[in-house]
Amino acid sequence: MVITKVKNLKGEITVPGDKSISHRGVMFGAISDGVTELTGFLDGADCRSTIGCFRAMGIDINQEGSHVVIHGKGLHGLKKPESILDVGNSGTTTRLISGILSGQSFISTLDGDDSIRKRPMGRIITPLSQMGAYIKSIKDNGCAPLEMGGSSLNAIHYDSPVASAQVKSCVLLAGLYADGITSVTEPVISRNHTELMLSGFGANITSEKLTASIVGQPKLYGQKIAVPGDISSAAYFIAAGLICDNADLLIKNVNTNPTRAGIIEVAKAMGGKIELLNERIVSGEPVADIHVCTSSLHGCEISGDIIPTLIDELPVIAVMAAAADGTTTIKDAAELKVKESDRIATVTENLKNMGCDITATDDGMIINGGNPLHGTKIKTYLDHRIAMSFAIAGLIADGETSFDDEKCCVISYPNFFETLKALS
Ligand code: S3P
Repeated sequence: MVITKVKNLKGEITVPGDKSISHRGVMFGAISDGVTELTGFLDGADCRSTIGCFRAMGIDINQEGSHVVIHGKGLHGLKKPESILDVGNSGTTTRLISGILSGQSFISTLDGDDSIRKRPMGRIITPLSQMGAYIKSIKDNGCAPLEMGGSSLNAIHYDSPVASAQVKSCVLLAGLYADGITSVTEPVISRNHTELMLSGFGANITSEKLTASIVGQPKLYGQKIAVPGDISSAAYFIAAGLICDNADLLIKNVNTNPTRAGIIEVAKAMGGKIELLNERIVSGEPVADIHVCTSSLHGCEISGDIIPTLIDELPVIAVMAAAADGTTTIKDAAELKVKESDRIATVTENLKNMGCDITATDDGMIINGGNPLHGTKIKTYLDHRIAMSFAIAGLIADGETSFDDEKCCVISYPNFFETLKALS
């Protein structure tokens, strides 16, 4: 795949279904009574890992592309898998499913690829152990492979040191299997899809400020869910529409949940021409069409409470910053270091190689934008968001931008390059 500078970028697109919501739809459907039907499901490698894990535990799941039907067996209907559960590259699968597996009467083991084996699982081992779960990092290094289950759980209150929806969701899901009320307080609010969706399935789950609480042992009932487009996938086209010449893009049917939509605020703060049209609620989630066009961007500071609402978008926001006049400072984003790659390092290395003035810091980056970018071979580190963010940088760079391996896009956006090519 080679990307070159575009002269114009126009059109109307939809992006694949939201990854976070797709994972949750499968998981919650599996532990509910009756049938759950998902439309708009993200047919990407990560969500397929989630489907594979639940099939291995006896759940009948029919998938035809973005249409998925899950025949749930209730809270206590999973059966012991015959082999190790394969979570692939998916941190969301690993951490959320661990909450469910910890509450099972059987012991199971999960494992994933080289990237998953480096990601911190101490953040879920700590609260699950406090709940009385048996959970063990088999290599004793705080990472996968993990073994868990076979003990009963107590409800706890957990003060999470990190703003992480994966940690929060893991504890809340374990809370389904405990008697009493389990609650989690976060330092800053993270995405709340678990709270919204579990409530739709019939759980007694409440949120107040930074605390989410769930009552254990509920009856959950299968639902019909229309999964909206993923703002993290729309982000590449939001950025492209703002930084390319002669651009005008309409991205339809995108999830704009405020706990996810920080990129819209940042685009506005940078002077971007961006508007939300046709705002509505679909399956309990805010959805809109997003219109963007060519803008003169200027740098800004991105820090504090907004960070969890745009954590996955920071690589492409860094690309926007490289195209903007002036300095953009990203702070309070040390979590970037423990994503599919160390995204402070991988963004800095690739943007520097394209001619951008960028400095990595302990918790973010300082980007002095406005230098012309030039094409290079992008080192993706097999991180889907790095590949796609730098494809967008390639649209404004002189020369050719290529990739050591762009196939990693299958994790969250299998048709990304086709959609991009069709617009230019
Ligand atoms: C996700 C939460 C985020 C995000 C990930 C998906 C989720 O991770 O980076 O891509 O679906 O809950 P953290 O909550 O750990 O930051």
